[in-house]
Amino acid sequence: IAVDPASRPVLAVDQGTSSTKALVICPERGVIGSGTAPAPPRYASGGVVEADPALLLSSVVDAGRRALADAGEPVAAVGLANQGETVLAWDPDTGAPLTDAIVWQDRRAASVCAELAPHADMLRELTGLPLEPYFAAPKMAWIRRSLTREGVVTTSDSWLVHRLTGEFVTDAATAGRTQLLDLDTTEWSPAALGVFGMSDERLPHVVDSAGQFGVTTAFGDPIPLTGLLVDQQAALLAQRVTEPGTAKCTYGTGAFLLAGTGARPLRSRTGLVGCVAWRLGGRSSYCLDGQVYTAASAVRWLSDLGVISGAEDLDRVGSSVADSGGVTFVPSLAGLAAPWWRGDVKGSMTGLSLETGPGHLVRALCEGIAAQVVGLADAVAEDTGIALESLRVDGGLTRSELLMQTQADLLQLPVEVSPLPDATALGVGAVARIGLDPGMSVERAAPRWRPEKVFEPRIGPAEAAERLGVFRTEVAAIVARTPSAG
Ligand code: G3P
Repeated sequence: IAVDPASRPVLAVDQGTSSTKALVICPERGVIGSGTAPAPPRYASGGVVEADPALLLSSVVDAGRRALADAGEPVAAVGLANQGETVLAWDPDTGAPLTDAIVWQDRRAASVCAELAPHADMLRELTGLPLEPYFAAPKMAWIRRSLTREGVVTTSDSWLVHRLTGEFVTDAATAGRTQLLDLDTTEWSPAALGVFGMSDERLPHVVDSAGQFGVTTAFGDPIPLTGLLVDQQAALLAQRVTEPGTAKCTYGTGAFLLAGTGARPLRSRTGLVGCVAWRLGGRSSYCLDGQVYTAASAVRWLSDLGVISGAEDLDRVGSSVADSGGVTFVPSLAGLAAPWWRGDVKGSMTGLSLETGPGHLVRALCEGIAAQVVGLADAVAEDTGIALESLRVDGGLTRSELLMQTQADLLQLPVEVSPLPDATALGVGAVARIGLDPGMSVERAAPRWRPEKVFEPRIGPAEAAERLGVFRTEVAAIVARTPSAG
């Protein structure tokens, strides 16, 4: 009996900043296997955030093999989500890396951005992205200038795919994270390449998010690679928040708020990013995107200081006190992203006293993350002209009831928690299924889910506004006292 391949399980691999997570997803039975493998980056002075490419690849293979072993049954296809703006140089003949992977949080390409500042407006109009070292192209140009050997410089997805199947591709949404992609045509822009001095660059072919991207034997038996998508957009797809008035936020290493804008490429007027959500069947869908650079990495920082024992300890320590005790924590430990785009500013903690204890710091951190997310949600509403009605959330930190309640309180909207924190893997699993069956709709590939839990605001609008006001005043003070490099 012939079995429809689109009805068989797929392997979905999410190669994230700190680890790789893999799920085996069955259309009928849901998640039937999972596996993880650590891949922590290295932080050093001077804004250095690097990862070992070999570790990224081995974590993909290990997590995938673990998920398959856990499921105990074969899969019809594999999908791969990637970190977006992490880049490296590599030898296209041998696949050997020529540099470490420069992680999206790395700040060293600030010098490239300062130099290209006169082109910032043109680049924003062309690509939808502000000129910022967070994105891939400044990092690619920075690597290119220091590279003495011949090789290609690409986002990490292209290298991983090359190692898995031999193809030289990147999906349109990941390509859209470079600042080299024309937002309207979703093809490489000769003008943007010219600005970055990369006109002669050998770049991967820009492909749809679902398709046939070769076959890999990295996980055992040969499996076709049929889904490729940048991680935040994969979570957006899984969250199915494409209609007006909806948005999703993923609380990972950073926190990322995205709202779909349909077939319309929007240039943000508020400092958000306008970018490709996915390209399927040659048709692009778009979204607005805003970032908080440090969410779980700020939690890890507090944990390294010994204030908590880990993310799972946030609620225990935070609930030991009733409020933040007057402490305001702007957790911009890797700078501020949208809408400020001041990656150079440091974090700040004010209002400390001899009574300040670990619980106050934890609550102040939760408020600091949540208040930034509120700023992004407000910016989406302003750009689209449509007020948000709720926020759908996923990612590891959604397990913290304290953070989620704080989010609902400050946002003054219901916060709907995904039953599975791993929306990114679900989303790339969905595009892998569309790759197997190009006629399949997004609605069928990523069925709409019911929230596991909904956090309703427990404070009134006046208190929320007051707390946000205090936070915003502190952000403005940090920005004002940090001389701009650009
Ligand atoms: O832009 C970087 C972001 O997509 C990384 O996601 O989940 O590794 O924090 P995550």
